[in-house]
Parts: sequence; C-alpha cells; structure tokens
Amino acid sequence: MKATLAEILENQNIGGTLFWLTVKEPRGAREALPGQFAHILCGEPFSQKDGPGWRRAFSISQVDREKGTLSFLYRPEGRGSRWLSRRKPGETLDLLAPLGKPFPLDLPPQHRPVMVAGGTGLAPFLFLSRELSLKGETPLLFIGMASHKELAVMGLALEAGAQVMVATDDGSQGYYGTVVDLARETLLREEKGDGRTPFLYACGPTAMMAAMASFAREKGWPLYVSLETNMACGTGLCLTCTVPGPRGPHFYRRACVEGPVFPAEEVDWNEL
Ligand SMILES: Cc1cc2nc3c(=O)[nH]c(=O)nc-3n(C[C@H](O)[C@H](O)[C@H](O)COP(=O)(O)OP(=O)(O)OC[C@H]3O[C@@H](n4cnc5c(N)ncnc54)[C@H](O)[C@@H]3O)c2cc1C
Ligand code: FES
Repeated sequence: MKATLAEILENQNIGGTLFWLTVKEPRGAREALPGQFAHILCGEPFSQKDGPGWRRAFSISQVDREKGTLSFLYRPEGRGSRWLSRRKPGETLDLLAPLGKPFPLDLPPQHRPVMVAGGTGLAPFLFLSRELSLKGETPLLFIGMASHKELAVMGLALEAGAQVMVATDDGSQGYYGTVVDLARETLLREEKGDGRTPFLYACGPTAMMAAMASFAREKGWPLYVSLETNMACGTGLCLTCTVPGPRGPHFYRRACVEGPVFPAEEVDWNEL
C-alpha cells in the first residue's frame, strides 16, 4: 500500500489527556472497516530532535465517507504520540490506511453486541458502534477511564448509537472500579438481556483483555479482541508485532496483517 499525505482538519484535546484528530483521506474513508487502523509517521524522518520517524498505529475511530475524513482518539504518551499532538490544522500527516483485519460485523441471530473498552481502547468501538447501529442494533458499550475528565468521549459514543455504561478508576463518575468488573456484574445480572446472549468485543490494556478472555471462556460467549502490540512496519514485513497463538510460543501471527483483531481463544494470554 502507498502512503498518503493527509491534511489535518482538527487535532485537539477533548478532556483529560485525550486528543481527537481528524484528517482528510477520502480513499481511507471509503475503504475503512471498524477494527482497522492507520499507521501514522510520527516525527520528521531524519530529525535530530525527534529522532528517526517511526510510524505509530491508531485505530480508526470515525469515518465520514461523504466528507472523506478519518478521525482518531489518542493519548499523547511517548515521543511519537506527543509529536502528533503538536501538529496543527493545515499541516499534513504521512499515513497508511486502512490496515489490518476488521471486527466481525454480522452477528449470529442469537447474539447481541457488547463492547468493553479500557482507556483509548475505546477508539475502534466508536466506529464499530456506528456501523452496528446502521444495521439496526443498539450495542452496549462499557467504557473504563481514569476519571470523569475523560468522559467527554461519552458524547461521541452516544452519538455513535451505543448504550453507554461507564466506570472510573477514581469513582468520580459511574461505577467505581474496573470496567471488567462493571461488565461482568451487569452481564451476569441481565444474563439474557433482550433474549440474546452477548457477543463480546474488547480493547484496552492487555491485563484487561486477558480478564475479559477468561470471563468469556467461563460463560462460553464469543469474544474478539483488538491487540495493541508494538508495530514497526505495519505491513507484515518486520515481525515486531508477533502474537503467540494457542499452540504455544512456537505459533505466532503478525498483529498488523493477521490482526489486530483476533478471537480471544486464538491468543495465548500467558505468553502475550
Ligand atoms: C493496532 C493498534 C491500534 C492502536 N490504536 C490506538 C488508538 O486508537 N489510540 C491510542 O492512543 N493508541 C493506540 N495504539 C497505541 C499507539 O500506537 C501507541 O500509543 C504508540 O505505539 C506509542 O507510541 P508513542 O509515540 O506514544 O510512544 P513511543 O515510546 O515513542 O513509541 C513506541 C512505539 O513506536 C514504535 N517504535 C519506536 N521506536 C521503534 C523502534 N526502534 N523499532 C520499532 N518500533 C519502534 C513502535 O511502534 C512502538 O509501539 C494502537 C496500537 C496498535 C498496535
Ligand atoms: S509490524 Fe512489521 S510485521 Fe507487523
């Protein structure tokens, strides 16, 4: 795939330490599916100050096919994402998109969609919620954030058509505790919901997804996870992103091309 130069239309803090980035990228907007990501060059290729520019992966959070835009939810943490947060509207970004395998969108009729998001793990679920709601679903979306300051994202999730329940680490809004505990307690209480059993999706820190994998296994419910492994090339060539499979450490797959979305039982959570 060829990299494109995409104009930044918006890049701003939207509460707490979260940022929202929108770029003009008509081809990416036409082709993208929920769960796919963009690989964005973060840093000048040969800058002394920023070091060599490596791409960083960001899940596609929102697509406007009419306007030809892609949006991303991210948290500036390391050098590359902090560089990204300093970019201004009108500047361009060098990106590859869409990459990776998407989430399954066609659910068996006995299942209802339920998503569990930790922090920026929410990013792919805004897009997934919108696509599922276009199919007539109202997905249930559990969001875990550090505090109420980051819950401006709730508005984005509601706009995307999800029914939202939130947990905060400091108890400043919603459930006081982890998002996995909130999801577990709620789903066990309403075991059948509308008569259909949950079809689970999870994205967030590895420990959170491992806890969800164990819960899904216990209940016999399907779970798809989106893994945020380190990626250098993003296109299947360098093997930095390999994920251990269920047949142990000798069975690896590349998250950038065979993932980042995997059925939870196809990941060896002890080795990840
Ligand atoms: C599929 C996927 C989707 C993601 N979606 C999101 C999202 O929606 N929002 C979000 O906030 N975060 C997301 N992330 C995580 C995001 O990519 C990380 O925030 C980012 O990798 C960390 O970058 P940084 O610049 O903050 O940190 P840094 O420490 O500067 O960079 C670490 C990353 O840079 C790359 N890198 C740096 N140096 C090297 C090197 N020498 N060799 C190889 N690679 C190098 C690696 O990709 C590594 O992951 C996603 C990750 C993946 C894999
Ligand atoms: S990031 Fe290079 S093979 Fe996946």
